[in-house]
Amino acid sequence: MNQLSDRLNRLSPSATLAMSQKSNELKAQGVDVINLSVGEPDFNTPDHIKEAAKKAVDDNFSRYSPVPGYPALRNAIVAKLKNENGLDYTVAQISCANGAKQSVCNTIMALVNDGDEVIVPAPYWVSYPEMVKLADGTPVIVTAGIDQDFKITPAQLEAAITPKTKALILCSPSNPTGSVYTKEELAGLAAVLAKHPQVYVIADEIYEHITYNGKHESIAQFPEIHDNVIIVNGVSKAYAMTGWRIGFIAGPEWIVKAVNKLQGQYTSGPCSVSQKAAEAAYTGTQAPVEEMRQAFQRRRDLIVKLAKGIPGFEVNIPQGAFYLFPKCDSFFGKSAGDRKINNADDLAMYLLEVGHVACVGGTSFGSPECIRMSYATSDENIVKAMCRINEALALLK
Ligand SMILES: Cc1ncc(COP(=O)(O)O)c(C=O)c1O
Repeated sequence: MNQLSDRLNRLSPSATLAMSQKSNELKAQGVDVINLSVGEPDFNTPDHIKEAAKKAVDDNFSRYSPVPGYPALRNAIVAKLKNENGLDYTVAQISCANGAKQSVCNTIMALVNDGDEVIVPAPYWVSYPEMVKLADGTPVIVTAGIDQDFKITPAQLEAAITPKTKALILCSPSNPTGSVYTKEELAGLAAVLAKHPQVYVIADEIYEHITYNGKHESIAQFPEIHDNVIIVNGVSKAYAMTGWRIGFIAGPEWIVKAVNKLQGQYTSGPCSVSQKAAEAAYTGTQAPVEEMRQAFQRRRDLIVKLAKGIPGFEVNIPQGAFYLFPKCDSFFGKSAGDRKINNADDLAMYLLEVGHVACVGGTSFGSPECIRMSYATSDENIVKAMCRINEALALLK
């Protein structure tokens, strides 16, 4: 008998983690799998950050931290927001958590009531609708296809807002599409939001430093909605620190206080040693961030060129993050032997089992006609993977 709570029964498991697991199983059997399913930089954490963590251990920086994080880290974040984003926050407006993932979830938990609607543009990061469901809210999916570079328009946003709308979750640069909203596009969305002051924006900017078309733009910059925006960011992607688990929110003090209350009963402050590492990331040299960004840009150019050469793929040019999200519905209905491809998840499984390349089907990103490929891997792997994908797809008739 299923004795789990309704809340847990409603929750879907993470498709990205499931694909990684499947590809690890094949690897364990000795199959040479190229993994394009992971959502993390393949670089190591820069040395000066590791040194700061080692020193923290030696200095016995090992006690419970304040729930929102040590003031030194929060001050470093305040300075980062001022210097990089031109945004003014006080230290009381920052709350750190165990990664940006917890920061998003904390904010949803703090804001969303039973039955509240949360607008989630699709394609979306897999966790957003699930987190909304955890909070007993209703995800309202607004779809933006490849023809609009996977970005919603102000008209679409306006049409989705109802009296029950509590929040919009905006991810730019985006996982899974790599799309980036320009300042003008954000201004268009802000103009709509300004007319609906009951709607908050959870702005997930975790890929801020991985952009290919100039400086990152935050939707928090528009004064007419600034007090309704909660920025989510962290060190995971920019500083190759996914395992250190430090994220943060910056937003109105009343929301930050609520998040602190929640976190105080739930997980307490994040790891003390990781906080020292994150502080070093924000206050130290930014040169490694730029080096990694350049490597991602080179790989972006490479994978886009190769993907455009694959018959049947429709490809956008990602302006940020490290994902390509080709539309591949031209293969649906085709077969190879006794294998029929009905959807993108079938195609991802086919590419794994026949081409030995792990990608993630688009269904769990709200885009069942696409697959996600992460290019956070070597140039050599990208070339080999795209060659294998091309060969495997050519077998489909
Ligand atoms: C859009 C998006 N937001 C948040 C996160 C989570 O970041 P963190 O590792 O800091 O929890 C990810 C990680 O994949 C992501 O892709």
